[in-house]
Amino acid sequence: MKVVERIRLPPPEEREAALRKAGYNLFQLQSDDVYIDLLTDSGTSAMSDRQWAAMMLGDESYAGSRNFAHFESTVRELTGFPHIIPAHQGRAAENLLFSMMAKPGTIVPNNMHFDTTRAHVERNGAKAVNLAIAEAYDLQSPYPFKGNVDVPRLEQLLAHEGAAKVPLVMVTLTNNTGGGQPVSLANLIEVQRACRVAGVPLYLDMCRWAENAFFIREREPGMGAVSIPEIGRRVFDLAEGATMSAKKDGLVNIGGFVATRDAALAGRLKEQLILFEGFPTYGGLARRDLEAASVGLREACDLDYLTHRIGQVRYLAALLEAEGVPFVRPPGGHGIYLDVARFLPHLPTSELPGQSLVIELYREGAVRTVEVGAVMFGDGESDGHAPLELVRLAIPRRVYTSAHLAYVADVVRRVWERRDQVRGVRMVEAPERLRHFLAKFAPAV
Ligand code: F0G
Repeated sequence: MKVVERIRLPPPEEREAALRKAGYNLFQLQSDDVYIDLLTDSGTSAMSDRQWAAMMLGDESYAGSRNFAHFESTVRELTGFPHIIPAHQGRAAENLLFSMMAKPGTIVPNNMHFDTTRAHVERNGAKAVNLAIAEAYDLQSPYPFKGNVDVPRLEQLLAHEGAAKVPLVMVTLTNNTGGGQPVSLANLIEVQRACRVAGVPLYLDMCRWAENAFFIREREPGMGAVSIPEIGRRVFDLAEGATMSAKKDGLVNIGGFVATRDAALAGRLKEQLILFEGFPTYGGLARRDLEAASVGLREACDLDYLTHRIGQVRYLAALLEAEGVPFVRPPGGHGIYLDVARFLPHLPTSELPGQSLVIELYREGAVRTVEVGAVMFGDGESDGHAPLELVRLAIPRRVYTSAHLAYVADVVRRVWERRDQVRGVRMVEAPERLRHFLAKFAPAV
């Protein structure tokens, strides 16, 4: 490490006051009130010396910046997609793609939609349908690819609705909503076949594609000697395009893109881009940011880095396992997802057990986590499944040491030991869309 950042553990009274002030919503906390921040792995990575050096090479030209040329060639080489449309982050890419493709009355299937993905599908009047395999909903199942799509159900939906009603199929690598679980190459081949038969394009949400490739390399027969970029190409070759938040496997603090093989669509996306993000050679970003992303996208493919990264998740998993703490198994690529129903079985859904646990972890040790459950997805999933009730401990890339993670495990253990006393909460203020970001809570009476 060449740079360090001071962090501070606020005393218990300060934590209690901060919780009250934030309406018991951890998105509303000041970061200075947080000791270890596991809210998200998005945009929270530490950049490398090479990335910081790249930032100094910014060619801030409005049009035709050489940083965009480098970015475009990097993404083309990694993905094979010819048309690269930069955007300031993943949801901007989603906005571009879905505002072109999702129309009222249409259906967009995904293994599991993440919050912003689902919101963009729905904002355009389409229905977001989750089609993950049954194992994804069995939190203790050791199945190695719990992010997989249920292909028979996808085929059924495609046969029933037809290409006119399904503008695209999306698959999220890894499945963030379902525990950071990977999707296998074999499954993607099947999904692609189903899409081809139906004449529907397949798009990937490639936010965590390198982590997904790591699991393919480790778990899929015959893949152990294949490099991460090569696995990536085998995956991307199956798709018509992708959306990317470079804040994850691009190892940058801001950035993203849409990529596609469809030249006509790319033209329309660029018109939209100019309206909302910026000219197609910067897409809402400083050109130095594009340069840092070009370097970061390659660093994310490094096997030593990925081994360390996923090793950190497994280290935390092993510490929690030793205490009997329930979490989604096997541990995924970017964090630990606590199994809330097993952690707080005495709290009914109406008392928002996931949010209660998030509050309690902060109260115990100023660790910030996020609820992925009834608050984030509470109005029911369109596939009829209740949302999984999880608390995610997302691990930022290249930021924390084992000592920090051991502290986190200790905080979780302390809450686990007094779990019977954890009280529920209720939502007292709820915005209509993406309510988890802005909602306010109060202790249940
Ligand atoms: N798709 C997935 C699977 C994501 O996890 C995210 C963001 C996005 C799209 C949107 O990208 O944030 O750059 O606009 N996930 C973050 C998280 C916020 O905490 O998991 P973005």
